[in-house]
Amino acid sequence: MKIGIDKIGFYTPNMYVETENLAKARHIDPGKFTIGIGQEKMAVTPITQDAVSLAANAALEILTAEDKKAIDYVIFATESGIDHSKAASIYIHELLDLEPNVRSIEVKQACYSATAGIQIAKGHIALNPESKVLILGADISRYGLETSGEVTQGAGAVAMVVSADPKIMTIESPSVYQTEDVMDFWRPLHSDTAFVQGKYSVDQYIKFFQNLYYAHHDKTNIGLSDLDAILFHLPYTKMGMKALKSVVEEANEADRERLLANFDISKRYNAIVGNIYTGSLYLSLISLLELNTTIEAGSRIGLFSYGSGAVGEFFTGILQPNYREALYKEKHDNMLDNRTEVSVEAYEKTFQDTIPSGTENIELPIEQDPATICFAGIKDHMRQYVNKN
Ligand code: CAA
Repeated sequence: MKIGIDKIGFYTPNMYVETENLAKARHIDPGKFTIGIGQEKMAVTPITQDAVSLAANAALEILTAEDKKAIDYVIFATESGIDHSKAASIYIHELLDLEPNVRSIEVKQACYSATAGIQIAKGHIALNPESKVLILGADISRYGLETSGEVTQGAGAVAMVVSADPKIMTIESPSVYQTEDVMDFWRPLHSDTAFVQGKYSVDQYIKFFQNLYYAHHDKTNIGLSDLDAILFHLPYTKMGMKALKSVVEEANEADRERLLANFDISKRYNAIVGNIYTGSLYLSLISLLELNTTIEAGSRIGLFSYGSGAVGEFFTGILQPNYREALYKEKHDNMLDNRTEVSVEAYEKTFQDTIPSGTENIELPIEQDPATICFAGIKDHMRQYVNKN
């Protein structure tokens, strides 16, 4: 049975800051951010968006009434959770008006967990071929003002429907995966910003990629010449480029050129949105699928998922006939074109505009946010969401 991604969409908040301006404000040469890190714009999140509303906005655009009837599993991947107990997927279930007979869970392992969601979905559909699984990867990446990770922040969500006979990409077996206890990046319960050992995290990422790429090759005999593109979790776009270069160095010229050119296309959305943690690899997939003009159905794509801490996975997918018709390029173009640029001062103010822990009641200015679904505030310690439609 063919199982894989049937639909895929994303959402990012309506504001961004130019990294060039951020560099100037931090007295850093802009080339470091735009070339050295490879980020051009960074999404800025209003107080009226959180992981739940970002994910709900992403899912809204891709689900038809027929999908809603068939979805019997919602898997919400995030490291920006809003509750220690209740799964974010239950809010999504309500906001999207899904059927009652649905299994809903939240999964966590840093930026990796949406990939776990896809593999869980694959097993579920193998046992229940009629069902569809909704997978959400939504995060707000926060390192803090004037930190070295600051330019690698971002926010957004990817929503995917996984099903049998998918319209976009089948997920092949086997995949290879690895876990190792590594303190490269984490966020203790008390903190709303990440702790990171930056250079160490870069080394771990590359080590995991190389281990997994070669282990996959040993297991499947799939090599660079069998892959039309290799996609990466992109905490910042230069990270994926470093990893890719580490395996294409010894490739023949045609393979090297094809993989580098397609990587260039796959990083474009990420370069203007920023790190969206769990959704990042899949935003890169959307970028490749929506922006390439030459990749044919039947092409094989490699995907490297990495979540600090750390878990990694390398797997492949095959693009399906007419995959382009299942994409939402125009909607995404509009969303990205209609964002508002904000100054560094406005970004800093928005960054610091957080709800103090323990707040019992608060109403938020949702009329200032053009998003359809917003986080509207807290009532008696319960988060409130509004669907403006
Ligand atoms: N023009 C062009 N390039 C320039 C430049 C200029 N004027 N000035 C500097 N550069 C280049 C440097 O040469 C360097 O390039 P290389 O990496 O190719 O050597 C690049 O810009 C970055 O410079 P530094 O290494 O000096 O940057 P830094 O010390 O400020 O920190 C960082 C970089 C460690 C990535 C930091 O931004 C960080 O900690 N980020 C968050 C952690 C992260 O994203 N880790 C990635 C792996 S972990 C993961 O993937 C999970 C996740 O999502 C977090």
